[in-house]
Amino acid sequence: MTAPVLQAEGIVAGYTADLMILHGVSVEVAPGEIVAIIGPNGAGKSTLIKAIAGLVKVSAGRIAIDGRETTGTPAHLLAAAGVAYVPQTDNVFATLSIEENLVLGGVTLPGRQARARIEEALARYPMLAERRRQKAGILSGGQRQMLAIARALMTAPRLILLDEPTAGLSPMAAEELFGLIRGLVGGGAAVLMVEQNARAALRHSDRGYVLAEGVNRIEGASDALLADAEIGAIFLGLRPADSEGLRP
Ligand SMILES: Nc1ncnc2c1ncn2[C@@H]1O[C@H](COP(=O)(O)OP(=O)(O)OP(=O)(O)O)[C@@H](O)[C@H]1O
Ligand SMILES: [Mg+2]
Repeated sequence: MTAPVLQAEGIVAGYTADLMILHGVSVEVAPGEIVAIIGPNGAGKSTLIKAIAGLVKVSAGRIAIDGRETTGTPAHLLAAAGVAYVPQTDNVFATLSIEENLVLGGVTLPGRQARARIEEALARYPMLAERRRQKAGILSGGQRQMLAIARALMTAPRLILLDEPTAGLSPMAAEELFGLIRGLVGGGAAVLMVEQNARAALRHSDRGYVLAEGVNRIEGASDALLADAEIGAIFLGLRPADSEGLRP
């Protein structure tokens, strides 16, 4: 088996020393793989993403990127280790232009490399190229997410962490964004995404993990999870009658 891009084992983490939110969570993401984290509100999905992104203190367990341990590495140093994190909200600077947002994504790069990556990003996403000098604040929700992802790609990450990328988007905009996310892993990068919309997340991922109360509950191939009515009824908060709707 190919070595995983992300290997997180037994992660224990919380926001204060006396209250842990994650009680030993493990996830792996292989090169080229899109993995979805789903589960009820308060399960610890965002906390897990933030722990991997170096934004929440990890009290026990181990995180490795491409086999190199990054446990405890602060967020600002993780870009160099190949990790990019796109938070759910406030992920673009509304008063700056699209191009300036991309420049900020590449501040840690040598100037020439940053210029080249910006041109690559604009070539990849013509919607951004057409508006490169306009303020990011004019963009729709889906376009903002595209910009936030393009900015995260400036450092050529191996692992892209997305927290609810489609929150607040119309079903059509969400489908478009999932298409864009699929395109991120072609070169062997990996995506770990948290999604509120479990059905859509499983339809657009390769594997999924169900978290509940800070522990792993179920994991498997996304199509198998989609077909599992128990998951729909118990872990995704759907009524049994809705679980039919989980099928693709
Ligand atoms: N900054 C914080 N400080 C203290 N506790 C927090 C903080 N953020 C989250 N929590 C707590 O951690 C627990 C897990 O929250 P988390 O945001 O990881 O859940 P989630 O699975 O992402 O939920 P949701 O689906 O609502 O986004 C919750 O009990 C929450 O109240
Ligand atoms: Mg969350």
